[in-house]
Amino acid sequence: MLEEYFKSLLNKKLPENLYNPIDYILQQGGKRLRPNLVRMSAKMFGADENAVRNVAAAFEMLHNFTLIHDDIMDEAPIRRGKPTVYKKWNGNVAILAGDALATLSMQEMLKTPAPAETVLQLVNLLGKTCIEVCEGQQLDLDFETCDDVTIDDYIEMIRLKTAVMLAGCLKAGALLAASPASDAEHVYNCGIYLGLAFQLRDDLLDVYADEAEFGKMIGGDIKENKKTYLFLRALNDSSEEQHEKLRFFFSSDNVDFEEKFSAIKQIYSDLDIKAKTESEILKYVESSFDELSQVHVADSLKNELKGWIEQLTFRNK
Ligand code: IPE
Ligand code: IPE
Ligand code: MG
Ligand code: MG
Ligand code: MG
Repeated sequence: MLEEYFKSLLNKKLPENLYNPIDYILQQGGKRLRPNLVRMSAKMFGADENAVRNVAAAFEMLHNFTLIHDDIMDEAPIRRGKPTVYKKWNGNVAILAGDALATLSMQEMLKTPAPAETVLQLVNLLGKTCIEVCEGQQLDLDFETCDDVTIDDYIEMIRLKTAVMLAGCLKAGALLAASPASDAEHVYNCGIYLGLAFQLRDDLLDVYADEAEFGKMIGGDIKENKKTYLFLRALNDSSEEQHEKLRFFFSSDNVDFEEKFSAIKQIYSDLDIKAKTESEILKYVESSFDELSQVHVADSLKNELKGWIEQLTFRNK
């Protein structure tokens, strides 16, 4: 179990105010998608099982670091049904816990029992992933106050902030098995398309999920003027009057949240944005399967990953 492993890594480390928040977020679980992608990919490519745990843990730690900082940036009150780290402690504690967790993730990757050349490739992959997530996160912030964001800009932003991490996890499995470069590339691209679908679904759930099940605040993206797929698609498809309303609500800071949320939701409903987003998700999932089909391993070995991708397409949390 990853929880027990994370416990053992942090055992009795001091100061408490650095390590308790790290322990808090790592013990919350979540879907554990990234470690499972590493595991499934490693199995699919026939990698040595002993090396999987460090790589899976490293990616999950990197992911949790991004969540701690993301919640500060997005002013998010809850995650996984619990107060976010900066709410439970404070901003400074959350910044430092995130910094330490990012470095712990790198150290974890370095422990991987694999040939030195493979470990070097894995650490490079983790570093590249981390930098790209930062680039995506900065674009996400920049877009909050930018009013000419296109859907293509948005796709590039989510490729960076979300998709490269899922892609990196899948590629790590191929690296562990020293698979041919073309397979590593196709499985990486499979992860990119999965990641795009995953973030579109996340945007959708931000508006339509059940808060208790989703574990995050509903309407958080609308509150923060996030340029999500839903918003940009609505802007594209809107009448002049709807367009003005969308612009108004996403440019004024002192409007009542409930009023803003229900006005935006009404426009989404009038423009059938939920169904349009769902059909876009399905397109990316198809591209993801198409990339996977080009990976040279027996079809039967791809079934577990395929099953996960299918489930994630319709996830509610
Ligand atoms: C949240 O990731 C951040 C996004 C990329 C949308 P997850 O939805 O995988 O979060 P957990 O780990 O399951 O909580
Ligand atoms: C996810 O973006 C990207 C990262 C956490 C790096 P969001 O801001 O949409 O993620 P949630 O919804 O807070 O999990
Ligand atoms: Mg967020
Ligand atoms: Mg964010
Ligand atoms: Mg979100």
